[in-house]
Amino acid sequence: MSNMIESLQWRYATKKFDPTKKLSAEQLQELMDAVQLSASSFGLQAYRVAVVTDPAIRAKVREHAWGQAQVTDASHLFAFMPMKSIDEAYVKNYVGLIAKTRGIPVESLKDYENMMLGTIKSRTPEALAVWLRAQAYIAVGFLLSAAAHMGIDTCPMEGFDPTHVDVDLSLLEKNLTTAVLVPVGFRASDDEAATYKKVRTPKEELFMTL
Ligand SMILES: Cc1cc2nc3c(=O)[nH]c(=O)nc-3n(C[C@H](O)[C@H](O)[C@H](O)COP(=O)(O)O)c2cc1C
Repeated sequence: MSNMIESLQWRYATKKFDPTKKLSAEQLQELMDAVQLSASSFGLQAYRVAVVTDPAIRAKVREHAWGQAQVTDASHLFAFMPMKSIDEAYVKNYVGLIAKTRGIPVESLKDYENMMLGTIKSRTPEALAVWLRAQAYIAVGFLLSAAAHMGIDTCPMEGFDPTHVDVDLSLLEKNLTTAVLVPVGFRASDDEAATYKKVRTPKEELFMTL
């Protein structure tokens, strides 16, 4: 699909996936590229993304997602998992990655490192967790938009119980929690939701020109 707005009109939160239609390996890689290319505060990408294909895990997740069929029927299930906290070591590791990628000395990034650490330390643990969750949602947006552009269907989902889904995804010992699930695949030809007109706030209300 060439026109971005046409793609965004075409996409909708898919309620019924065709379980027989699977993403190709190339499509999956391209979607992962899009997620990897997401913007994030300072570029920290303090989240991880699970691509869940194991039917047993997906069946368990579905139980904890009010039985929503998309979880098991879509080709793949992405789970966006923000870190619960980040520490100095994570920031220093990221600074090392910038230095290596751009071929510059780590010392030249000291001010940037201090700025990141200052921002993190100025937040309460609760505010930090909220900020970290927000980062993962931006990556979700990249996935939805890229998928639409590729003619691939998605359904962003918050309708699940994270305390159970975190267990299903084996996150308990990890510094991660599940924020958003995104089944990805291809709509069933009889998904009624595909025919619903888009309901959106009028532009005069949505935007302010100042
Ligand atoms: C963060 C988030 C959570 C959502 N959770 C669910 C969900 O659990 N189940 C579902 O069917 N749709 C879910 N939706 C889809 C929204 O209901 C849908 O995006 C909205 O009604 C606009 O419709 P459209 O995306 O089809 O244009 C969610 C959307 C977002 C962005």
